[in-house]
Amino acid sequence: MGFVRVLGIETSCDETAAAVVGPEGILSDVIHTQQVHEEYLGVVPELAARAHVEKICAVTRAALEQAGVERPDAVAATAGPGLIGAVLVGLSFGKSLALGWGVPFLGVNHLEGHLLSPVLESEVLEFPFLALVVSGGHTTLYLARSLGEYETLATTVDDAAGEAYDKVARILGRGYPGGPLIDALAQGGDPAAIAFPRPRANKVDFSFSGLKTAVRSHVLGADRKSDADVAASFQAAVVDVLLDRVLWAVDETGVDRVALSGGVAANSLLRTRIQELPGVDAFVPERSRCTDNGAMIAHAGRLHLLAGRRHGLEFSARPRWQPGEA
Ligand code: KG4
Ligand code: ZN
Repeated sequence: MGFVRVLGIETSCDETAAAVVGPEGILSDVIHTQQVHEEYLGVVPELAARAHVEKICAVTRAALEQAGVERPDAVAATAGPGLIGAVLVGLSFGKSLALGWGVPFLGVNHLEGHLLSPVLESEVLEFPFLALVVSGGHTTLYLARSLGEYETLATTVDDAAGEAYDKVARILGRGYPGGPLIDALAQGGDPAAIAFPRPRANKVDFSFSGLKTAVRSHVLGADRKSDADVAASFQAAVVDVLLDRVLWAVDETGVDRVALSGGVAANSLLRTRIQELPGVDAFVPERSRCTDNGAMIAHAGRLHLLAGRRHGLEFSARPRWQPGEA
């Protein structure tokens, strides 16, 4: 079983992705990003589910072909959290393949996939570590004690960090997803141009909705700075807020290994600044493995399968699901 090659399938949002991961590492990683949502400036759930139905076969076939694998030893598919109709496509497809091939199946928690993705790329990252998962739907800092054992230390009480990026992009009349656009725009701006607030929900949690409102007020106000300055100043505030909590958690737990993951982990300022934090050993995945991908699902599934876990075909989609929750 140590040689197990796992097919991982991801369809929880707007990426249709499949990958094969084995003991040698990532054998293939195929991602199709849906374009249908761009004109709506956000993901439309029903359109996402339909687009997954159209692409899932081709994406999975490409992942198997690129890996040179006809029949994997097991299948792992995202079972949640995410858009229920979208999750159901990949989950049902994955279960059917496992049934047809007669191989074990495992439903994977999407957040656990992100959380463990730095482990996939670093041989030296060991438990326990702090995991900052920052995506379009989630912003949570976990203490990862062991495989499947994750304690939430801080989470957002309102918007996720990626959601704040997407909303600020909308305020500035840019496209979707906003993260990469604002990141690029910020390169030409002054991060000290506007003193946006660094909100704290309370002693530990994150809050980004007030920051987004401050950006809107500034943009509608009299002394409006350039889009690049707004983007750079907003980005500086987001990164300050995130890193403030990381330092707090390192202090609180005595754990100095910090693993960054989720779509916002692709952010250039966050990547640079977390690696410069004093007293922190930062682990940051490749940019392309921060946003949704199949390799993270295959990898998380593989670790659990190697630990002897399996799910029956009755395992159903879960729109809400904490990582580590049975
Ligand atoms: O993990 P992900 O692909 O999907 C979810 O599980 O949500 O994350 C997508 C989020 C979007 O909100 C997108 O704007 C943000 O990640 N994002 C970024 C960057 N690239 C993607 N945010 C800031 N800077 C980036 N470079
Ligand atoms: Zn994600």
